[in-house]
Amino acid sequence: MAINTYIPTMLTLKYHVSLPVAVGTLFVGIPYGISLVAQWLYGWPNKPGYKKYIEGLKPRRIYCITRAVLEMLKYLQYGRLYFQWKSWYKNVDNNKHCVKDITFGRRGMKLDLYHSPDTEQYKLMPLVVFVYGGAWGSGERSTYCLLAIQMAKELNATVVCPDYATFPKGNVLNMVEDIADCLLWAREKGHLFNIDKDNIVLIGHSAGAHLCALTTLFLISGAEEIGIETTKQTDITSAIKGILGLSGVYNILDHYQHEQNRAIEYVSTMHKAMNGVENFPYYSPTHRIKKLDEEKIKRIPPFGLLHGTYDIIVPLESSVRFSELLTSLSLKASLYLLPKMDHTEMATDLMAPDRHFYHTIYGCIKQEYSKFMEKC
Ligand SMILES: *[C@@H]1O[C@H](CO)[C@@H](O)[C@H](O)[C@H]1NC(C)=O
Repeated sequence: MAINTYIPTMLTLKYHVSLPVAVGTLFVGIPYGISLVAQWLYGWPNKPGYKKYIEGLKPRRIYCITRAVLEMLKYLQYGRLYFQWKSWYKNVDNNKHCVKDITFGRRGMKLDLYHSPDTEQYKLMPLVVFVYGGAWGSGERSTYCLLAIQMAKELNATVVCPDYATFPKGNVLNMVEDIADCLLWAREKGHLFNIDKDNIVLIGHSAGAHLCALTTLFLISGAEEIGIETTKQTDITSAIKGILGLSGVYNILDHYQHEQNRAIEYVSTMHKAMNGVENFPYYSPTHRIKKLDEEKIKRIPPFGLLHGTYDIIVPLESSVRFSELLTSLSLKASLYLLPKMDHTEMATDLMAPDRHFYHTIYGCIKQEYSKFMEKC
């Protein structure tokens, strides 16, 4: 009898102890663990006079960061695509379609160049410069090999995909310099690869769309900061026939607000890449464009802006507001809001024809691209 009651008591006792422990681990231990690691790796709030540990440990912040980290589990669905691009890039048989590791610019950055399958010998091909995203702090050109080869085919153009000095290698000004250097390379060395140096289109995704717009505006204003002769800057801008922004950021202040709402502003690389909050207007295309005089505004190329309605990383208002601003300045801007598409799909779905949004996105891109090219 004594033994019989002893066993159930032990079980109940164990049950009672382990439930709170399990619940505690699930709702407190794991979230705090994830957020602490994320904050340690990517930076605590570091504003002067700030109680950073208290701020960093606030439940709302912990909850939001955990959510943001868990949302990244979604990327597991790209596992197959990852192996596809890895093996495509490694396979030397594919080198007939592309020229890899071309050095350009003041920092000795590298770019890869992809030919259209319809390239005709001795005929000059228009150039598309694809600038990848990665929140100004990550990204690598080889990731976009499948995208670039498809883009070269779909647009019947030569595509180059340059690396640029992402944070902490460089700040946003350095990134702008690298994109400008890539364009200068196309102007000066493009003939070696049958590139038509007078027909250049920029296509950027996310932070890359921001860099395309920002670089063009720096070049149009003849900015001394980027260390390129003014005549050369004018030269480059006259060759840019259009800019396609895919899920782009155009107003850094607005985007910081969005990051604050998601409580990820301290772990995000954005404010670090911009050298602090005080530089946000300086690095915002929406702000710079308003500083240009009428003559310079006339030189801004047409824009095509694409954005997915399910994008939570960069809200679609970013493209909506930028297109409104461009239109209010009598500039050409087309806006495409793509239903149910999220932030990553805008780039990953351009990599293979069997991806869900492949034809939708290329449909818009081609329509804009041919408008850009018609004028010449
Ligand atoms: C691709 O562009 C080249 C060069 O302009 C042209 O000769 C060729 O006919 C084009 N191919 C297609 C399928 O449009």
